[in-house]
Amino acid sequence: MEHLEIDSMSQAFSEGDASATPSRKVFVKTYGCQMNVYDSQRMTDALAADGYVATEAMEEADLVLLNTCHIREKAAEKVYSELGRIREIKRERERTGAEMLIGVTGCVAQAEGREIIRRAPVVDLVIGPQTYHRLPDALRKARVGEKTVDTDYAVEDKFEHLPQPKSAEIARRGVTAFLSVQEGCDKFCTFCVVPYTRGAEVSRPVSQILAEAERLVAAGMREITLLGQNVNAWRAEGPDGKDWGLGRLLFRLADIPGLARLRYTTSHPRDMDDELIAAHRDLCSLMPYLHLPVQAGSDRILKAMNRRHKAADYLALIERIRTARPDIAMSGDFIVGFPGETDEDFEATLNIVREVGYAQAFSFKYSPRPGTPGAEMKDHVPETLKDERLQRLQALLAEQQHAFTQSRVGMRFDVLIDKPGRRAGQKAGRSPWLQPVIIDERAGEIGDIIPVRITRTEASTLFAETL
Ligand code: SAH
Ligand code: SF4
Ligand code: F3S
Repeated sequence: MEHLEIDSMSQAFSEGDASATPSRKVFVKTYGCQMNVYDSQRMTDALAADGYVATEAMEEADLVLLNTCHIREKAAEKVYSELGRIREIKRERERTGAEMLIGVTGCVAQAEGREIIRRAPVVDLVIGPQTYHRLPDALRKARVGEKTVDTDYAVEDKFEHLPQPKSAEIARRGVTAFLSVQEGCDKFCTFCVVPYTRGAEVSRPVSQILAEAERLVAAGMREITLLGQNVNAWRAEGPDGKDWGLGRLLFRLADIPGLARLRYTTSHPRDMDDELIAAHRDLCSLMPYLHLPVQAGSDRILKAMNRRHKAADYLALIERIRTARPDIAMSGDFIVGFPGETDEDFEATLNIVREVGYAQAFSFKYSPRPGTPGAEMKDHVPETLKDERLQRLQALLAEQQHAFTQSRVGMRFDVLIDKPGRRAGQKAGRSPWLQPVIIDERAGEIGDIIPVRITRTEASTLFAETL
């Protein structure tokens, strides 16, 4: 998954969505993966029905939500420094007689629960990723001074009974959307907190997914990215009564008229089955881009990580995928300095990178996480050695990304125009491989898919002429 820090994830709502009472304002800050981006959006939707309007200025917010990430120590600790800053802003606001409630949601909320309020008493509510539908209730309590800590693994679907945003609201969000189909993880890689923070694997039913996809497309979305912590572990009963996997679901989604592009993330190598590979072969709307993390190249480390496959299995899988879809671009995640990683193990990671050739990748220093088996292992790698390895790996990955970008020059392909350009006279779009593409603003409207030819590059951005 992509690890961004989205500074303020907020969308404006039309007056019509607010209740008759003067609207309150909510500021949401999102950390971590796309699942959090999706959840932040849905929480904002839920709060809109309660009269909240999104704002991008924390200073004017009646409610601040930090939707947090626990994946590495740095990500988790950031929340506390941010809470310190928010406390000052809240004090300022209270001097003017205004209120400011503070909520922590997401994976730090789930992992640390009540401890968050102990360390930062300014926090009014702590709600884990499984119970966002209870947010309005927690807010009512917070307004009368009652704090909430809710880290249940709720049995009910957290978003299913939410009021849906109006089509015009969705349309304002652009032409690409996330759609969560699967949550949680049963893989228990020994370095990872996700199985603890997001719980067991749960797949959303086909009917809900299709209804949401159709709503998004009706509102003008041209591209949908299916999300899941292990999206290709998605399984559910299809309308034909048969057991469907993600491949089958993609075939069905590809039939929705107007849905031009499909993507999915993040996948685990063990769940890439034949039908999913066939979807890459047969569906032109399934974009030729796959994020398939391998984490490490040494079989010994893969075993210690509990990835449950060998380096050779991964390479053979990629070969099958490339046979099905020769123009597919690979993306990955890597961890350096897992406990016990020797120079030789690390060389194996560099080797697997050389063999695959990545268009894009994320790489991290191993961060021991409380409660995971990795944290208890012997032979932790010294920080300086992790730094050194990370630098070497990132240099190689940067070289590969640069080569991939360069290889697009002179190529012709379709671009989905998705926003105005940063400079006057330009519009911006995305290549099938997720690269930003700059074109002349007269080339088409936002939402159009137009054929272009790439003329030059600047860092990882492509510049194109229309055909
Ligand atoms: N479900 C996805 C990844 C989720 S976490 C998968 O299985 O691939 C996203 C990435 O964060 C992981 O792929 C891994 O590279 C990194 N990561 C997870 N735990 C980590 C840790 N303890 N230290 C460093 N990186 C970590
Ligand atoms: Fe974490 Fe492994 Fe599950 Fe991915 S598959 S979320 S890395 S435990
Ligand atoms: Fe972070 Fe939770 Fe996503 S730990 S990466 S926000 S699933």
